[in-house]
Amino acid sequence: MDCNVFNPVDLPCGRTIENRLVKTAMYEHMANFSGGPPNEFHYGLYSEWAKHGWGMILTGNVQVSPQHLTLGRDIVVPPTLNAKDLKPFERLAEVIHGVVDGTRSLAIMQLSHAGRQSANFIGGRLPFVPPLAPSSVRVGAGHTESCGRGAISDLIFHALFQVPTEMTTLDILYVQSSFVRGALLAYKSGFDGVQLHAAHGYLLAQFMSHKSNIRNDEYSVAPENVTRMLSEIVKAIRKVVPTTFIIGIKINSADYITYGGAEEVYQEGERRVLDHIHTIASWGVIDFIEISGGDYEKPDFMACSGSQKLDRQAFFTRFSRTVMKDLYRSPVPFSSVPLILLTGGLRSHSHLQAALMSKHADLLGIGRGAVLCPDLPEILRLQLQNSKSSSTWADRPFAHEPEAVFRASKWVPSVGLIGAGVGTAWYTTRMRDIAISQIKNPRAEPPPVDYNRGGLIAVFKMWAWFDSRIVPIWVLGIFMVLIVTAEVFYQH
Ligand SMILES: Cc1cc2nc3c(=O)[nH]c(=O)nc-3n(C[C@H](O)[C@H](O)[C@H](O)COP(=O)(O)O)c2cc1C
Repeated sequence: MDCNVFNPVDLPCGRTIENRLVKTAMYEHMANFSGGPPNEFHYGLYSEWAKHGWGMILTGNVQVSPQHLTLGRDIVVPPTLNAKDLKPFERLAEVIHGVVDGTRSLAIMQLSHAGRQSANFIGGRLPFVPPLAPSSVRVGAGHTESCGRGAISDLIFHALFQVPTEMTTLDILYVQSSFVRGALLAYKSGFDGVQLHAAHGYLLAQFMSHKSNIRNDEYSVAPENVTRMLSEIVKAIRKVVPTTFIIGIKINSADYITYGGAEEVYQEGERRVLDHIHTIASWGVIDFIEISGGDYEKPDFMACSGSQKLDRQAFFTRFSRTVMKDLYRSPVPFSSVPLILLTGGLRSHSHLQAALMSKHADLLGIGRGAVLCPDLPEILRLQLQNSKSSSTWADRPFAHEPEAVFRASKWVPSVGLIGAGVGTAWYTTRMRDIAISQIKNPRAEPPPVDYNRGGLIAVFKMWAWFDSRIVPIWVLGIFMVLIVTAEVFYQH
Protein backbone atom coordinates (compact mmCIF):
# COMPACT_ATOMS: atom_id res chain seq x y z
CA MET A 1 0.00 0.00 0.00
CA ASP A 2 1.32 3.37 -0.95
CA CYS A 3 1.69 5.49 2.14
CA ASN A 4 3.70 8.59 2.74
CA VAL A 5 3.43 8.90 6.52
CA PHE A 6 7.11 8.02 6.68
CA ASN A 7 8.29 10.31 3.90
CA PRO A 8 10.52 13.14 5.10
CA VAL A 9 9.52 16.73 4.45
CA ASP A 10 11.46 20.01 4.44
CA LEU A 11 10.43 23.00 6.49
CA PRO A 12 10.75 26.50 4.99
CA CYS A 13 13.71 27.23 7.30
CA GLY A 14 15.66 24.41 5.61
CA ARG A 15 15.34 21.77 8.34
CA THR A 16 13.95 18.32 7.52
CA ILE A 17 11.37 16.37 9.50
CA GLU A 18 12.10 12.70 9.03
CA ASN A 19 8.45 11.64 8.95
CA ARG A 20 5.00 13.23 9.25
CA LEU A 21 4.14 12.02 12.74
CA VAL A 22 4.12 14.77 15.35
CA LYS A 23 3.66 14.21 19.06
CA THR A 24 1.61 17.32 19.71
CA ALA A 25 1.85 19.60 22.79
CA MET A 26 0.37 18.21 25.98
CA TYR A 27 0.61 19.78 29.43
CA GLU A 28 2.29 17.21 31.67
CA HIS A 29 1.36 18.39 35.22
CA MET A 30 4.79 17.36 36.44
CA ALA A 31 6.65 20.57 37.33
CA ASN A 32 6.73 21.96 40.87
CA PHE A 33 3.50 23.37 42.17
CA SER A 34 3.30 27.03 41.00
CA GLY A 35 5.60 26.30 38.05
CA GLY A 36 9.22 25.40 37.52
CA PRO A 37 11.81 23.80 35.23
CA PRO A 38 11.54 20.31 33.74
CA ASN A 39 12.56 17.50 36.10
CA GLU A 40 13.17 13.73 36.24
CA PHE A 41 9.53 12.99 35.48
CA HIS A 42 9.63 15.02 32.28
CA TYR A 43 12.88 13.31 31.24
CA GLY A 44 11.31 9.89 31.89
CA LEU A 45 8.18 10.70 29.91
CA TYR A 46 9.93 12.27 26.93
CA SER A 47 12.56 9.54 26.78
CA GLU A 48 9.72 7.09 26.11
CA TRP A 49 8.46 9.15 23.16
CA ALA A 50 12.01 9.71 21.93
CA LYS A 51 12.54 5.95 21.61
CA HIS A 52 9.90 5.41 18.97
CA GLY A 53 10.73 7.55 15.97
CA TRP A 54 8.31 10.50 16.04
CA GLY A 55 9.22 13.07 13.37
CA MET A 56 8.74 15.98 15.74
CA ILE A 57 8.07 16.09 19.48
CA LEU A 58 6.46 19.18 21.00
CA THR A 59 6.65 19.87 24.72
CA GLY A 60 3.53 20.73 26.70
CA ASN A 61 2.91 24.43 27.09
CA VAL A 62 5.89 26.21 28.65
CA GLN A 63 4.60 29.39 30.26
CA VAL A 64 6.37 32.68 29.56
CA SER A 65 4.77 34.25 32.64
CA PRO A 66 4.97 32.50 36.03
CA GLN A 67 1.88 34.51 37.05
CA HIS A 68 -0.22 33.07 34.22
CA LEU A 69 -0.12 29.30 34.58
CA THR A 70 -2.82 26.89 33.44
CA LEU A 71 -3.19 24.09 36.01
CA GLY A 72 -0.39 25.11 38.33
CA ARG A 73 2.33 22.60 37.53
CA ASP A 74 3.44 24.10 34.23
CA ILE A 75 7.03 24.32 33.04
CA VAL A 76 7.98 28.01 33.22
CA VAL A 77 10.56 30.11 31.36
CA PRO A 78 13.06 31.22 34.06
CA PRO A 79 13.62 34.96 34.66
CA THR A 80 17.30 34.67 33.71
CA LEU A 81 19.04 32.41 31.21
CA ASN A 82 22.30 31.63 32.99
CA ALA A 83 24.03 28.25 32.73
CA LYS A 84 22.23 26.92 35.83
CA ASP A 85 18.81 27.95 34.50
CA LEU A 86 19.50 26.39 31.11
CA LYS A 87 20.62 23.01 32.43
CA PRO A 88 17.24 21.29 32.96
CA PHE A 89 16.05 22.53 29.56
CA GLU A 90 19.27 21.31 27.88
CA ARG A 91 18.65 17.93 29.43
CA LEU A 92 15.08 17.85 28.11
CA ALA A 93 16.24 18.76 24.57
CA GLU A 94 18.88 16.00 24.75
CA VAL A 95 16.30 13.46 25.90
CA ILE A 96 13.93 14.36 23.05
CA HIS A 97 16.74 14.12 20.51
CA GLY A 98 17.61 10.57 21.59
CA VAL A 99 18.30 8.87 18.26
CA VAL A 100 16.35 5.71 17.39
CA ASP A 101 16.97 3.71 14.24
CA GLY A 102 18.25 6.82 12.55
CA THR A 103 15.20 8.95 13.46
CA ARG A 104 16.22 12.03 15.36
CA SER A 105 12.98 13.68 16.45
CA LEU A 106 12.98 17.45 16.17
CA ALA A 107 12.48 19.04 19.60
CA ILE A 108 10.02 21.94 19.69
CA MET A 109 9.18 23.94 22.80
CA GLN A 110 5.61 25.24 22.93
CA LEU A 111 5.51 28.77 24.38
CA SER A 112 2.31 30.05 25.92
CA HIS A 113 0.72 32.64 28.18
CA ALA A 114 -2.66 31.73 29.62
CA GLY A 115 -3.98 35.32 29.88
CA ARG A 116 -7.56 35.39 31.21
CA GLN A 117 -7.72 31.56 31.24
CA SER A 118 -5.19 31.46 34.10
CA ALA A 119 -7.36 30.25 36.98
CA ASN A 120 -7.54 31.79 40.43
CA PHE A 121 -5.37 30.21 43.17
CA ILE A 122 -3.55 27.77 40.88
CA GLY A 123 -2.52 30.29 38.21
CA GLY A 124 0.63 31.49 40.01
CA ARG A 125 -0.72 34.77 41.45
CA LEU A 126 -1.72 35.71 44.98
CA PRO A 127 -5.39 34.84 45.66
CA PHE A 128 -7.82 37.29 44.03
CA VAL A 129 -5.12 39.02 41.98
CA PRO A 130 -6.64 39.07 38.47
CA PRO A 131 -4.71 37.90 35.43
CA LEU A 132 -3.81 40.15 32.51
CA ALA A 133 -5.68 39.95 29.21
CA PRO A 134 -6.31 42.13 26.14
CA SER A 135 -9.62 43.33 27.68
CA SER A 136 -11.49 42.99 30.96
CA VAL A 137 -13.79 40.21 29.75
CA ARG A 138 -14.03 37.19 32.04
CA VAL A 139 -13.96 33.60 30.73
CA GLY A 140 -17.61 32.52 30.51
CA ALA A 141 -18.93 35.97 29.66
CA GLY A 142 -19.39 34.80 26.05
CA HIS A 143 -21.29 31.68 27.02
CA THR A 144 -24.76 32.08 25.53
CA GLU A 145 -28.19 30.60 26.28
CA SER A 146 -28.00 28.38 23.22
CA CYS A 147 -24.99 26.63 24.67
CA GLY A 148 -26.64 25.84 27.96
CA ARG A 149 -25.63 28.84 30.03
CA GLY A 150 -27.04 28.17 33.42
CA ALA A 151 -26.41 28.09 37.14
CA ILE A 152 -23.80 25.33 36.99
CA SER A 153 -21.70 26.78 34.19
CA ASP A 154 -21.94 30.28 35.74
CA LEU A 155 -20.86 28.92 39.09
CA ILE A 156 -17.90 27.09 37.63
CA PHE A 157 -16.69 29.98 35.51
CA HIS A 158 -17.13 32.42 38.41
CA ALA A 159 -15.33 30.11 40.80
CA LEU A 160 -12.37 29.52 38.53
CA PHE A 161 -11.84 32.71 36.58
CA GLN A 162 -11.64 36.36 37.51
CA VAL A 163 -12.38 39.47 35.53
CA PRO A 164 -8.95 40.10 34.01
CA THR A 165 -7.11 43.41 34.01
CA GLU A 166 -6.81 45.04 30.61
CA MET A 167 -3.18 45.13 29.49
CA THR A 168 -1.45 48.47 29.05
CA THR A 169 0.97 49.01 26.17
CA LEU A 170 3.77 48.45 28.67
CA ASP A 171 2.26 45.11 29.72
CA ILE A 172 2.07 44.14 26.05
CA LEU A 173 5.72 45.01 25.46
CA TYR A 174 6.72 43.06 28.55
CA VAL A 175 4.79 39.96 27.45
CA GLN A 176 6.34 40.20 23.98
CA SER A 177 9.80 40.30 25.52
CA SER A 178 8.91 37.26 27.64
CA PHE A 179 8.04 35.27 24.50
CA VAL A 180 11.40 36.32 23.02
CA ARG A 181 13.15 35.17 26.22
CA GLY A 182 11.28 31.86 25.87
CA ALA A 183 12.52 31.45 22.29
CA LEU A 184 16.07 32.28 23.37
CA LEU A 185 15.77 29.71 26.15
CA ALA A 186 14.70 27.12 23.57
CA TYR A 187 17.50 28.05 21.19
CA LYS A 188 20.26 28.20 23.82
CA SER A 189 19.25 24.92 25.38
CA GLY A 190 19.36 23.01 22.10
CA PHE A 191 15.72 22.85 20.98
CA ASP A 192 15.21 22.97 17.23
CA GLY A 193 12.44 25.51 17.45
CA VAL A 194 9.38 26.89 19.21
CA GLN A 195 5.67 26.83 18.67
CA LEU A 196 3.67 29.90 19.72
CA HIS A 197 0.39 28.81 21.27
CA ALA A 198 -2.22 31.05 19.66
CA ALA A 199 -5.10 28.58 20.02
CA HIS A 200 -7.43 27.22 22.73
CA GLY A 201 -8.30 30.69 24.06
CA TYR A 202 -4.88 31.51 25.56
CA LEU A 203 -3.44 35.03 25.48
CA LEU A 204 -2.30 35.15 21.83
CA ALA A 205 -5.68 33.73 20.75
CA GLN A 206 -7.43 36.25 23.04
CA PHE A 207 -5.82 39.07 21.08
CA MET A 208 -7.27 37.65 17.84
CA SER A 209 -10.82 36.98 19.03
CA HIS A 210 -13.73 39.43 19.07
CA LYS A 211 -15.10 37.92 22.23
CA SER A 212 -12.03 38.54 24.38
CA ASN A 213 -10.55 41.61 22.70
CA ILE A 214 -12.67 44.78 22.70
CA ARG A 215 -9.73 47.19 22.55
CA ASN A 216 -9.78 50.30 20.37
CA ASP A 217 -6.03 50.79 20.01
CA GLU A 218 -3.48 49.31 17.61
CA TYR A 219 -3.93 45.88 19.25
CA SER A 220 -7.66 45.72 18.50
CA VAL A 221 -9.31 43.06 16.32
CA ALA A 222 -9.65 45.46 13.39
CA PRO A 223 -8.31 43.62 10.30
CA GLU A 224 -5.16 45.79 10.16
CA ASN A 225 -4.42 45.13 13.87
CA VAL A 226 -5.64 41.63 14.62
CA THR A 227 -2.36 39.79 14.06
CA ARG A 228 -0.13 42.63 15.34
CA MET A 229 0.64 41.02 18.73
CA LEU A 230 1.69 37.79 17.05
CA SER A 231 3.64 39.47 14.24
CA GLU A 232 5.62 41.67 16.64
CA ILE A 233 6.57 38.61 18.70
CA VAL A 234 7.57 36.62 15.61
CA LYS A 235 9.67 39.50 14.20
CA ALA A 236 11.40 39.99 17.55
CA ILE A 237 12.16 36.25 17.83
CA ARG A 238 13.51 36.06 14.28
CA LYS A 239 15.99 38.85 15.14
CA VAL A 240 17.62 36.81 17.92
CA VAL A 241 17.66 33.27 16.50
CA PRO A 242 19.31 31.84 13.37
CA THR A 243 17.25 31.42 10.19
CA THR A 244 17.33 27.64 10.63
CA PHE A 245 15.49 27.88 13.96
CA ILE A 246 11.95 26.53 13.49
CA ILE A 247 8.99 28.76 14.35
CA GLY A 248 5.49 27.30 14.35
CA ILE A 249 2.12 28.67 15.41
CA LYS A 250 -0.91 26.80 16.78
CA ILE A 251 -4.16 28.47 15.79
CA ASN A 252 -7.88 27.78 16.11
CA SER A 253 -9.99 26.93 13.08
CA ALA A 254 -12.58 29.54 14.07
CA ASP A 255 -12.42 32.46 16.44
CA TYR A 256 -15.14 30.98 18.62
CA ILE A 257 -17.16 34.13 18.92
CA THR A 258 -20.54 32.39 18.93
CA TYR A 259 -21.78 29.18 20.51
CA GLY A 260 -24.38 26.89 19.13
CA GLY A 261 -25.15 29.65 16.62
CA ALA A 262 -26.04 29.40 12.97
CA GLU A 263 -23.65 27.63 10.61
CA GLU A 264 -23.16 30.87 8.61
CA VAL A 265 -21.90 32.64 11.72
CA TYR A 266 -19.45 29.82 12.36
CA GLN A 267 -18.29 29.97 8.76
CA GLU A 268 -17.82 33.71 9.07
CA GLY A 269 -15.49 32.96 12.00
CA GLU A 270 -13.58 30.47 9.84
CA ARG A 271 -13.23 33.04 7.05
CA ARG A 272 -11.67 35.47 9.54
CA VAL A 273 -9.18 32.84 10.67
CA LEU A 274 -8.37 32.02 7.06
CA ASP A 275 -7.46 35.70 6.64
CA HIS A 276 -5.24 35.50 9.75
CA ILE A 277 -3.47 32.43 8.33
CA HIS A 278 -3.03 34.18 4.99
CA THR A 279 -1.42 37.13 6.76
CA ILE A 280 0.82 34.85 8.83
CA ALA A 281 1.96 32.99 5.69
CA SER A 282 2.72 36.30 3.97
CA TRP A 283 5.38 37.07 6.61
CA GLY A 284 7.49 34.34 4.97
CA VAL A 285 9.14 33.27 8.24
CA ILE A 286 6.77 30.70 9.73
CA ASP A 287 7.60 27.02 9.29
CA PHE A 288 4.39 25.32 10.29
CA ILE A 289 0.87 26.20 11.33
CA GLU A 290 -1.03 23.75 13.50
CA ILE A 291 -4.81 23.75 13.08
CA SER A 292 -6.83 23.08 16.21
CA GLY A 293 -9.98 24.55 17.75
CA GLY A 294 -11.84 25.41 20.94
CA ASP A 295 -11.21 27.21 24.21
CA TYR A 296 -12.19 26.80 27.88
CA GLU A 297 -15.78 27.83 27.12
CA LYS A 298 -16.08 25.27 24.35
CA PRO A 299 -13.15 22.83 24.54
CA ASP A 300 -13.54 21.21 21.10
CA PHE A 301 -9.86 20.24 21.05
CA MET A 302 -10.58 17.72 23.83
CA ALA A 303 -13.65 16.21 22.15
CA CYS A 304 -13.82 12.44 22.20
CA SER A 305 -13.92 10.93 18.75
CA GLY A 306 -17.17 9.19 19.63
CA SER A 307 -18.89 12.32 20.90
CA GLN A 308 -22.00 13.42 19.08
CA LYS A 309 -21.03 17.06 18.95
CA LEU A 310 -18.05 16.33 16.79
CA ASP A 311 -18.93 13.19 14.94
CA ARG A 312 -16.22 13.80 12.36
CA GLN A 313 -13.26 11.83 13.57
CA ALA A 314 -10.54 14.11 12.37
CA PHE A 315 -12.10 17.21 13.92
CA PHE A 316 -10.63 20.04 11.88
CA THR A 317 -9.98 18.39 8.51
CA ARG A 318 -12.44 20.45 6.49
CA PHE A 319 -10.82 23.66 7.62
CA SER A 320 -7.25 22.47 7.13
CA ARG A 321 -8.12 21.39 3.58
CA THR A 322 -9.45 24.92 2.91
CA VAL A 323 -6.24 26.37 4.34
CA MET A 324 -4.03 24.17 2.14
CA LYS A 325 -6.00 25.14 -0.97
CA ASP A 326 -5.85 28.80 -0.04
CA LEU A 327 -2.11 28.83 0.60
CA TYR A 328 -1.20 27.05 -2.62
CA ARG A 329 -3.61 29.02 -4.80
CA SER A 330 -2.86 32.44 -3.40
CA PRO A 331 -2.97 35.07 -6.18
CA VAL A 332 0.21 36.56 -4.71
CA PRO A 333 2.53 33.55 -4.16
CA PHE A 334 4.23 33.45 -0.76
CA SER A 335 8.01 33.49 -0.55
CA SER A 336 7.70 30.31 1.53
CA VAL A 337 4.58 28.33 2.40
CA PRO A 338 4.30 27.04 5.98
CA LEU A 339 3.54 23.34 6.40
CA ILE A 340 0.09 22.56 7.78
CA LEU A 341 -0.08 20.37 10.87
CA LEU A 342 -3.52 18.88 11.48
CA THR A 343 -4.30 17.78 15.03
CA GLY A 344 -7.42 16.42 16.70
CA GLY A 345 -9.17 13.10 16.36
CA LEU A 346 -6.65 11.35 14.11
CA ARG A 347 -7.28 7.87 15.42
CA SER A 348 -6.41 5.35 12.76
CA HIS A 349 -3.92 4.72 10.05
CA SER A 350 -6.58 5.42 7.43
CA HIS A 351 -7.14 8.89 8.94
CA LEU A 352 -3.44 9.64 8.62
CA GLN A 353 -3.22 8.35 5.12
CA ALA A 354 -6.38 10.14 3.96
CA ALA A 355 -5.20 13.45 5.42
CA LEU A 356 -1.90 13.26 3.54
CA MET A 357 -3.16 11.81 0.30
CA SER A 358 -6.10 14.20 -0.01
CA LYS A 359 -3.76 17.10 0.79
CA HIS A 360 -5.58 18.09 3.97
CA ALA A 361 -2.30 18.38 5.83
CA ASP A 362 1.47 18.02 5.52
CA LEU A 363 2.02 16.91 9.11
CA LEU A 364 -0.14 14.82 11.44
CA GLY A 365 -0.48 15.80 15.09
CA ILE A 366 -1.35 13.11 17.61
CA GLY A 367 -2.06 13.92 21.23
CA ARG A 368 -4.04 11.41 23.26
CA GLY A 369 -3.09 8.60 20.88
CA ALA A 370 0.56 9.28 21.71
CA VAL A 371 -0.18 8.98 25.44
CA LEU A 372 -2.01 5.69 25.01
CA CYS A 373 0.62 4.37 22.56
CA PRO A 374 3.96 6.19 22.87
CA ASP A 375 5.34 3.67 20.36
CA LEU A 376 2.77 4.48 17.69
CA PRO A 377 5.30 5.30 14.92
CA GLU A 378 6.89 1.89 15.39
CA ILE A 379 3.54 0.13 15.38
CA LEU A 380 2.55 1.91 12.17
CA ARG A 381 5.87 1.18 10.52
CA LEU A 382 5.58 -2.51 11.38
CA GLN A 383 2.01 -2.71 10.18
CA LEU A 384 3.06 -1.12 6.94
CA GLN A 385 5.94 -3.53 6.44
CA ASN A 386 3.80 -6.58 7.22
CA SER A 387 0.85 -5.73 5.08
CA LYS A 388 0.66 -5.75 1.33
CA SER A 389 -2.89 -4.65 0.67
CA SER A 390 -4.58 -4.78 4.00
CA SER A 391 -7.48 -2.48 4.60
CA THR A 392 -8.53 -4.26 7.77
CA TRP A 393 -5.83 -2.85 10.01
CA ALA A 394 -5.87 0.52 8.31
CA ASP A 395 -9.24 1.37 9.84
CA ARG A 396 -8.44 0.02 13.27
CA PRO A 397 -8.04 2.74 15.90
CA PHE A 398 -4.57 3.11 17.40
CA ALA A 399 -5.94 2.23 20.85
CA HIS A 400 -9.27 2.46 22.70
CA GLU A 401 -10.04 5.74 24.30
CA PRO A 402 -10.92 5.43 27.98
CA GLU A 403 -14.64 4.96 28.66
CA ALA A 404 -14.24 7.02 31.84
CA VAL A 405 -13.52 10.11 29.76
CA PHE A 406 -16.52 9.52 27.46
CA ARG A 407 -18.75 9.22 30.50
CA ALA A 408 -17.34 12.34 32.13
CA SER A 409 -18.13 14.41 29.04
CA LYS A 410 -21.81 13.57 29.67
CA TRP A 411 -21.84 14.53 33.37
CA VAL A 412 -22.79 18.16 32.72
CA PRO A 413 -22.87 18.35 28.93
CA SER A 414 -23.42 22.12 28.90
CA VAL A 415 -20.12 22.65 30.73
CA GLY A 416 -17.55 21.20 28.35
CA LEU A 417 -14.80 22.24 30.74
CA ILE A 418 -15.79 19.43 33.15
CA GLY A 419 -15.35 16.69 30.54
CA ALA A 420 -12.13 18.33 29.32
CA GLY A 421 -10.86 18.59 32.90
CA VAL A 422 -11.48 14.90 33.57
CA GLY A 423 -9.88 14.05 30.21
CA THR A 424 -6.82 16.11 31.10
CA ALA A 425 -6.62 14.40 34.50
CA TRP A 426 -6.92 10.95 32.97
CA TYR A 427 -4.22 11.54 30.37
CA THR A 428 -1.82 13.35 32.73
CA THR A 429 -2.00 10.44 35.18
CA ARG A 430 -1.25 8.07 32.29
CA MET A 431 1.74 10.28 31.34
CA ARG A 432 2.92 10.01 34.93
CA ASP A 433 2.65 6.20 34.79
CA ILE A 434 4.88 6.27 31.71
CA ALA A 435 7.38 8.62 33.37
CA ILE A 436 7.62 6.52 36.53
CA SER A 437 8.03 3.31 34.55
CA GLN A 438 10.91 4.91 32.59
CA ILE A 439 12.57 6.24 35.72
CA LYS A 440 12.47 2.73 37.23
CA ASN A 441 13.68 1.00 34.08
CA PRO A 442 14.70 3.02 31.02
CA ARG A 443 14.56 -0.10 28.86
CA ALA A 444 11.05 -1.11 29.87
CA GLU A 445 8.20 -1.30 27.36
CA PRO A 446 5.53 1.40 27.81
CA PRO A 447 3.32 0.29 30.72
CA PRO A 448 -0.11 -1.14 29.85
CA VAL A 449 -2.95 1.37 29.82
CA ASP A 450 -5.06 1.25 32.99
CA TYR A 451 -8.52 1.31 31.45
CA ASN A 452 -10.06 0.64 34.86
CA ARG A 453 -9.03 4.08 36.08
CA GLY A 454 -12.22 6.09 36.49
CA GLY A 455 -12.62 9.81 35.87
CA LEU A 456 -12.91 10.83 39.53
CA ILE A 457 -9.97 8.66 40.52
CA ALA A 458 -7.92 10.32 37.77
CA VAL A 459 -8.86 13.80 39.02
CA PHE A 460 -7.96 12.81 42.57
CA LYS A 461 -4.67 11.19 41.54
CA MET A 462 -3.75 14.20 39.44
CA TRP A 463 -4.16 16.69 42.28
CA ALA A 464 -3.14 14.60 45.25
CA TRP A 465 0.20 13.70 43.71
CA PHE A 466 3.23 14.93 45.70
CA ASP A 467 1.11 17.30 47.68
CA SER A 468 -0.21 14.33 49.65
CA ARG A 469 3.31 13.71 50.96
CA ILE A 470 3.38 17.20 52.42
CA VAL A 471 -0.24 17.75 53.38
CA PRO A 472 -2.68 14.94 54.27
CA ILE A 473 -5.26 14.46 51.52
CA TRP A 474 -8.28 15.34 53.70
CA VAL A 475 -6.67 18.69 54.57
CA LEU A 476 -6.11 19.33 50.87
CA GLY A 477 -9.76 18.45 50.12
CA ILE A 478 -11.12 20.82 52.77
CA PHE A 479 -8.75 23.54 51.58
CA MET A 480 -9.96 23.19 47.98
CA VAL A 481 -13.65 23.35 49.02
CA LEU A 482 -12.92 26.45 51.12
CA ILE A 483 -11.11 28.32 48.38
CA VAL A 484 -13.78 27.60 45.77
CA THR A 485 -16.55 28.72 48.18
CA ALA A 486 -14.61 31.86 49.12
CA GLU A 487 -14.11 32.73 45.47
CA VAL A 488 -17.81 32.25 44.62
CA PHE A 489 -18.82 34.59 47.47
CA TYR A 490 -16.18 37.11 46.47
CA GLN A 491 -17.34 37.19 42.82
CA HIS A 492 -20.98 37.74 43.75
C1 LIG B 1 -3.61 16.03 28.77
C2 LIG B 1 -3.65 17.01 27.63
C3 LIG B 1 -2.92 18.17 27.73
C4 LIG B 1 -2.91 19.10 26.67
N1 LIG B 1 -2.11 20.19 26.76
C5 LIG B 1 -1.96 20.98 25.66
C6 LIG B 1 -0.97 21.99 25.65
O1 LIG B 1 -0.20 22.17 26.60
N2 LIG B 1 -0.86 22.74 24.53
C7 LIG B 1 -1.66 22.56 23.43
O2 LIG B 1 -1.51 23.27 22.44
N3 LIG B 1 -2.59 21.59 23.41
C8 LIG B 1 -2.74 20.78 24.48
N4 LIG B 1 -3.61 19.75 24.44
C9 LIG B 1 -4.40 19.52 23.21
C10 LIG B 1 -3.62 18.61 22.25
O3 LIG B 1 -2.44 19.21 21.78
C11 LIG B 1 -4.49 18.27 21.03
O4 LIG B 1 -4.79 19.46 20.34
C12 LIG B 1 -5.78 17.56 21.42
O5 LIG B 1 -5.53 16.55 22.38
C13 LIG B 1 -6.45 16.94 20.21
O6 LIG B 1 -5.62 15.99 19.60
P1 LIG B 1 -5.88 14.38 19.81
O7 LIG B 1 -7.30 14.13 19.38
O8 LIG B 1 -4.86 13.72 18.94
O9 LIG B 1 -5.70 14.12 21.25
C14 LIG B 1 -3.67 18.84 25.49
C15 LIG B 1 -4.41 17.65 25.42
C16 LIG B 1 -4.39 16.73 26.45
C17 LIG B 1 -5.14 15.45 26.31
